[in-house]
Amino acid sequence: MSKIFVDACFGKETPYTPVWMMRQAGRYLPEYMEVRAKAGNFLNLCHNPQMAAEVTLQPVDIVGVDAAIMFSDILVVPNEMGMELDFVKGEGPVFAKPIKSIEDVDALIGGEEAADKLTYVYETIKIVREKLADDKALIGFTGAPWTLATYMIEGQGTKTYSLVKKLIYTEPELMHRLLEKVTEVVKYYLEKQIEAGVDVVQIFDSWASALEKPKYMEFSWKYMKDIASHIKAKYPHIPIIMFPKGIGAYLDDIDGDFDVFGVDWGTPMAMAKEKLGDRYVLQGNMEPCRLYSKEATKECVEALAKIMKDGRHIFNLGHGILPDVPVENAKYFVSLCKEVSKRDK
Ligand code: CP3
Repeated sequence: MSKIFVDACFGKETPYTPVWMMRQAGRYLPEYMEVRAKAGNFLNLCHNPQMAAEVTLQPVDIVGVDAAIMFSDILVVPNEMGMELDFVKGEGPVFAKPIKSIEDVDALIGGEEAADKLTYVYETIKIVREKLADDKALIGFTGAPWTLATYMIEGQGTKTYSLVKKLIYTEPELMHRLLEKVTEVVKYYLEKQIEAGVDVVQIFDSWASALEKPKYMEFSWKYMKDIASHIKAKYPHIPIIMFPKGIGAYLDDIDGDFDVFGVDWGTPMAMAKEKLGDRYVLQGNMEPCRLYSKEATKECVEALAKIMKDGRHIFNLGHGILPDVPVENAKYFVSLCKEVSKRDK
């Protein structure tokens, strides 16, 4: 059976424009909170394939999205490269011993050995695959090397990025050595996700906007493109979605071997369409806080449908859904996207 989401990623005409939401498996769903409570904490949930599969499927069943995204976190990769990880209540992820030197980089577990340690992710994918309806797609994902490296060096979220940026300007060879090592692991990781059964992969570059354009191209986009062309060469039937958040001003320099460009909420969709719409299908880009209001949601969905009336579009938010959004509003967003984009055929 053909999957409307996969068809849309390749720019084929579909009965309506498919929709999913970044971070759709999460705290806004009471059913997620129940499973997480059973697991004890967030990392235990990631490590338990049965439970991770259950929360992966929740947004498909409850909210009606066209694709599931496997439940995990981008930071399990550096964790399995040997970095101790904790999710601290109220503060988010913390690495106890951030990377400080070339010796620290060289001590990390690399290549296939690191990717092979993520068995719980591949198990989750296999369980979801069995339970997911044939017409729904399963999305696999990774963090971009730059975003992962930022966490590995800063040790946690940051407002200034001063530790990682200091390395970019003072020790670029250390940065490249780390980025190359992470890139190699990520290539194996995505291959193994695909072998386990995902239909599509997305690369999240959440901290893209931290870098000025030449440094972004050199320290992030180059590695993302390398990953995309590696995966494309081996698995041409698997669509690749790139999501570099906050680089609307750099769109003129975007190229590479991928299928879908994720447009963040700060980038006007009409501008993204003008610059990239002929070459890539566009995903996005409603401001996630619009979900607090049905009127605000409707206004945006209708505006997006108008701009993207010729297709080559996937509805989504312009970043992740927030934990205090009413489930009813998420459902409204999803059903409205399908309704306004229905093609009469
Ligand atoms: O539904 C899905 O999208 C799949 C699951 C998913 C999670 N994290 C689960 C999660 C995905 C795709 C991610 C990606 C991720 N993780 C990113 C990239 C996307 C983005 O939002 O920019 C980033 C930067 C992370 C790192 C991360 N993980 C942070 C900063 C936090 C804490 C902030 C927060 O939202 O609580 C996490 C924890 C996390 N990852 C949660 C979930 C559901 C919340 C944990 C919980 O309390 O249950």
